[in-house]
Amino acid sequence: MVGATLGTKLAALGHEVKIGSRESDNAAGAAWVKSTSRGASQGTFADAAEFGEIVFVCMRGDVALPVVKSLGANKLKGKIVVDVSNPLDLSKGAPFPLLPHLVNTTSLGEETQKVLPQSFVVKTLNTVNCEVMVNPALAKGESNLFISGNDAAAKGRVIEVLRSFGWKDVIDLGDITTARGTEMLLPIWMRLYGLFGTPHFNFRIVGWKIRCELKQGSGPDLSFRAVLLRTPKALRP
Ligand SMILES: NC(=O)c1ccc[n+]([C@@H]2O[C@H](COP(=O)([O-])OP(=O)(O)OC[C@H]3O[C@@H](n4cnc5c(N)ncnc54)[C@H](OP(=O)(O)O)[C@@H]3O)[C@@H](O)[C@H]2O)c1
Repeated sequence: MVGATLGTKLAALGHEVKIGSRESDNAAGAAWVKSTSRGASQGTFADAAEFGEIVFVCMRGDVALPVVKSLGANKLKGKIVVDVSNPLDLSKGAPFPLLPHLVNTTSLGEETQKVLPQSFVVKTLNTVNCEVMVNPALAKGESNLFISGNDAAAKGRVIEVLRSFGWKDVIDLGDITTARGTEMLLPIWMRLYGLFGTPHFNFRIVGWKIRCELKQGSGPDLSFRAVLLRTPKALRP
């Protein structure tokens, strides 16, 4: 679902896209290739990993890591790997708890980086529904996307792709350990989905722009003052 949605958008933007599956002739993959006007092909997970300059991992959270491991680190060496998966335990039924071995003190993003030490793992897009991923306007109003990863250049390249999808406000949280926070947004995302009855919504962070603007060229002192500006009145010296 996510792979096909991202693939359709990427192909429409002029990229060549190979969608991977367990079997090279997967029926859903074949239907996707047929429905995509240009630049689309299918293969195994290994074929897709080899083909891509940027590889999107959009797999069921409980199988993503074993599948990536089975491909072998060499296949993805030097590549940007965008991890869109969430460590949801689908066996428990909605609202799907997080897999206990992939939360709190680690995350799927971090574990993916560990098994791919020579790849540039970037975690993003996992906090929005796939239709919103490629059309942020569906969430009605300005909203934010998060990005995590150890390599600034890789994040920059992925942000270019995100901009081509229509994302304006992408918050760079820092290294891949920050994926813990975005993956742990899923329990609240699931509850909001239940409440709203539509997946077309998103998170919006307020107050961060003023800090970024004040930080820009204003040195540590001003950014410190900017932080203080947000301290509740009663707590101010
Ligand atoms: N759906 C959304 O809008 C959304 C939004 C944000 C994040 N995510 C996350 O993105 C990921 C993909 O979501 P999705 O909705 O596209 O899920 P999905 O349709 O359930 O996942 C599809 C992928 O998982 C693979 N897969 C399933 N069972 C497998 C198994 N036993 N062994 C190996 N591979 C297996 C499928 O392989 P085959 O092609 O061979 O079947 C396919 O590549 C999930 O982690 C989800 O939490 C989803």
